[in-house]
Amino acid sequence: MRQAGRYQPEYREIKKTRRLVDIVMDPKLCALVTLSPIDQLNVDAAILFSDIIMPIAPMGITFEIRDGIGPCLDNPIREREHVKRLSVPDFAAGMPYVSETISILRNQLTVPLIGFCGAPFTLACYLIEGGPSKHFTHVRRTMHGDPDFWNVLMEILTAGMSAYLRFQAECGAQALQIFDSWVGTLGVDDYQDHVLPHLMRLVSEVNNHADVPIIYFGVHTGHLLEKIAESGCDVIGLDWRVSIAEARRRVPANIALQGNLDPGLLLGPWDKLEQHAQSILDQVAEPGFIFNLGHGVTPETSVETLQKLTQFVHNSTISPS
Ligand code: CP3
Repeated sequence: MRQAGRYQPEYREIKKTRRLVDIVMDPKLCALVTLSPIDQLNVDAAILFSDIIMPIAPMGITFEIRDGIGPCLDNPIREREHVKRLSVPDFAAGMPYVSETISILRNQLTVPLIGFCGAPFTLACYLIEGGPSKHFTHVRRTMHGDPDFWNVLMEILTAGMSAYLRFQAECGAQALQIFDSWVGTLGVDDYQDHVLPHLMRLVSEVNNHADVPIIYFGVHTGHLLEKIAESGCDVIGLDWRVSIAEARRRVPANIALQGNLDPGLLLGPWDKLEQHAQSILDQVAEPGFIFNLGHGVTPETSVETLQKLTQFVHNSTISPS
């Protein structure tokens, strides 16, 4: 959850002269940035430094990542004709820097490396809205007003992300995470009708070609848990709006859970943070749990607080059920 990023003074220093895209396309620098929080925080996995919007470039779409805003497109996809701009590339040729970065990382890491992509829905939001959105007006208009167009767009994004995830696994990623940050805006029926079929296809296609666990993470998705559990993913990542205990009751035992500390707590007093971290651990009565933040760490967070938190989690014991 933004493991490498602006909370780190050394990352802020690099960002003075390099854009995120410049870092990602420079394998040595990207590996350095990916590695920097690993020893610093003593976390148990590394996540490839990149952004969900990056594979959209070799798929044919130009974008810019604006500071403090996120990915933005000058020409959003609003009509059927526009979908023709997108194609599924050979990612080995289109993103050679990813394979180079992953091989440097696999040589240096002693913890597993997580590759990732944006989920088709969240990517569709960026492509249709042209940037971050509050009400997803154009997305809703498309989904409900022209379901055929919506399906064509979701299908090409699904095929693209399937190829991109498989490419990362072939390069050496040992787990894959699908980020569906904006999907919580939908109700259960819309999720079932317009999102889940594509997600199921994405997960099954990746599973058919790569033997790595798949984590699906969404924000504000408490109401969707039973549906998400049907996707075929191995792990469900949660934000803090639903408790681990409740999720455990509602999700089948063969699916692991990940989460869900509110990153806002990292800005408050240690006692309160410790109490919440402990409460999460108290709700975990069996293996199959990954302690994590419920969403991205904010730039205002101090490195020391994160170090203290990982140490606290490592020192705690989870009672086997
Ligand atoms: O450590 C990691 O988590 C890996 C790197 C990573 C980034 N973005 C780097 C990044 C990952 C996994 C992402 C995923 C991502 N990007 C998501 C899904 C997860 C989530 O946070 O919900 C989304 C929605 C995006 C789109 C995006 N990119 C946003 C909303 C922003 C924030 C804009 C800002 O400046 O606050 C970005 C930019 C971005 N991607 C940053 C980082 C470290 C921060 C800005 C920068 O350093 O240039």
